[in-house]
Amino acid sequence: MPLKTRVEAAIARAIAIGQARHAPPRLAAALDYATAPGGARIRPTILMSVAMACGDDRPVLADTAAAALELIHCASLVHDDMPCFDNADMRRGKPSVHRAYSEPLALLTGDSLIVLAFEILARVSPEDPARVAQLILTLSQQTGMPGGICAGQGWESEETVDLSAYHRAKTGALFIAATQMGAVAAGQEAEPWEELGARIGEAFQVADDLRDALYDAETLGKPAGQDDLHGRPNAVTQLGVQGAIRRLKDILGGAIASIPSCPGEAALAHMVRMQAERLTPVAPAMKQKSL
Ligand code: IPE
Ligand code: IPE
Ligand code: MG
Ligand code: MG
Repeated sequence: MPLKTRVEAAIARAIAIGQARHAPPRLAAALDYATAPGGARIRPTILMSVAMACGDDRPVLADTAAAALELIHCASLVHDDMPCFDNADMRRGKPSVHRAYSEPLALLTGDSLIVLAFEILARVSPEDPARVAQLILTLSQQTGMPGGICAGQGWESEETVDLSAYHRAKTGALFIAATQMGAVAAGQEAEPWEELGARIGEAFQVADDLRDALYDAETLGKPAGQDDLHGRPNAVTQLGVQGAIRRLKDILGGAIASIPSCPGEAALAHMVRMQAERLTPVAPAMKQKSL
């Protein structure tokens, strides 16, 4: 089964669990709205690719881990768009969840998706209790405090921001979860896979800064120019457009070099290159905003 089909099917199965029995209909609908159609699904794609590079001997664990990770990511976006955070009206080309369903339902959608992520992992525990315990631990660490996305968002409420801790927690954490959970699902140690996740996360942050500066809201499907608007430090103001593109290439080179040795090493390097190409802004976008 193609990787994308596996990811989408696993997410749909997870959401169906959250909508079963006597679920309140509007909140149940909001779970769908927040997760489908999705965005790039880059985190679960990386997770599955690492699992496959490591042999993918328990596909149900890789599928479930990929869905759990994407649910956490979608939850973080729902909360991030709310008026108490970025107050963004659009996400993935449609009204953000609080705009479409109300603030109370957006808060509950994010909460429900986070809980559901851990529930679906717990449900597959009989498959391999030790691996599932490690998957739950890794996902908790990269979601909460002190170094997960909660911490990342928390840095935005500090007077002085440690920029690398902020980026590592806000963006890097779920990429570290992606590489580590992919390895763990396939029976490998988590630790050797941290560096690859961290480097992909760093590259993704630079690419996101470039897209935020260069693309318009229509292309992005969410508000553009947010870093400037909120005065956030970012790679484009620090390095300029060409400098940021060079930096992106450097980080990616390091990411590929850091892939631990495994049976599918070459295919994994190819996947990282493909994702990088997709993320790097193309020349016409730059001309469009005359930069
Ligand atoms: C957006 O992530 C949030 C950041 C961490 C910058 P993505 O760009 O992966 O969002 P989707 O899932 O494709 O919409
Ligand atoms: C959102 O970060 C991602 C989270 C970790 C919650 P941003 O606020 O920087 O990203 P966008 O521009 O809304 O996707
Ligand atoms: Mg934000
Ligand atoms: Mg935002």
